[in-house]
Amino acid sequence: MPQRWRRSAAVAVVGLIGTAGLSACTAAGADDGDRPLVGVAMPTTASERWIADGDNVQSQLEALAYDVDLRYAEDDVPTQVEQLQEMIAEGADALVVGSIDGVALKDVLADAAAADIPVIAYDRLIRESGDVDYYASFDNARVGVQQATTLLQGLGVLDAAGEPTGASGPFTIELFAGSADDNNATVFYDGAMQVLQPYLDSGVLVVGSGETAFDQIATERWDPKNATARMAELLPRYTAGARLDGVLSPYDGISIAILEAVDQAGLPQPVVTGQDAELASAKSVAAGEQYATIFKDTRQLAEVTVQMVHALLSGTEPEVNDTTSYDNGVIVVPSYLLAPQVVTEQNYRAVLVDGGTYTAQELS
Ligand code: BGC
Repeated sequence: MPQRWRRSAAVAVVGLIGTAGLSACTAAGADDGDRPLVGVAMPTTASERWIADGDNVQSQLEALAYDVDLRYAEDDVPTQVEQLQEMIAEGADALVVGSIDGVALKDVLADAAAADIPVIAYDRLIRESGDVDYYASFDNARVGVQQATTLLQGLGVLDAAGEPTGASGPFTIELFAGSADDNNATVFYDGAMQVLQPYLDSGVLVVGSGETAFDQIATERWDPKNATARMAELLPRYTAGARLDGVLSPYDGISIAILEAVDQAGLPQPVVTGQDAELASAKSVAAGEQYATIFKDTRQLAEVTVQMVHALLSGTEPEVNDTTSYDNGVIVVPSYLLAPQVVTEQNYRAVLVDGGTYTAQELS
């Protein structure tokens, strides 16, 4: 485990994840007016989840008396590299990075390492660099499994408990994946295909276009416009008479684009999956349109991340719960992985309203 950033242990040890545990301590140097600075680089404000991520990390760090430089790169890789360079130059004590392109940060992270600045990969693994100290994310393989499971449940191939119903179809589906430069996208895809493959092999599921390889179904930069463009290519077979029963969608912005494209083509609504429980999709799930989404609580992800930063800058070891899954091509990055939650019309109130993410009015 990297030790290079270890400095004077100015603060009490924080071992437990949780706001109560964290709020008991404040940042090193807070009393003498020399507050440590944390650079937080996020990918884009084009999707609600990243705005919530940035806000949550910033407010939780500030509550522990850290200064925060929060930047968004609007999905432009050179901009993100430049922002990280600026954070290093201004003397950041730690970096939290939600990367755009998982392999584009090698050089700038080498600069961070040379300046003794620890780096936490936030939600997305940073690849091909030995200068990533920790990874805070969700169980991304599980997200893919959950997406595929909800697709099969929506089609009636699996029941609510996840058991096969014996429905033999054939059901015609299409598959979408996320951005090829985001490590998460392949992890989601692999998790989903592990569930879907047996049904594709047995003929219960048929991919109408025949496009099943990751490269054929990836959506550059997760951009809903690219999903709309691909739907325009896929839809003629269905407007000509074939029935589209379901679509595996990896992210809510893409799910909404798919639902709109189908609607505009005058076709019946297929079973569509999602991820992030963004407001438009949460409303759509509540209204019985989008079949499901996967909720990943960014408040918890911020807590895990802030715990890591605080431990590192206090000279203690961050808490992790996975030391095997995330090999980034150079090292296996010690990780803390949180549990994602399925959201459907049946449980959205319990998860999203009772859990405090949205009010009932916002979803009506
Ligand atoms: C995140 C997802 C998100 C996607 C698009 C992924 O890396 O894990 O939550 O839907 O990026 O922003």
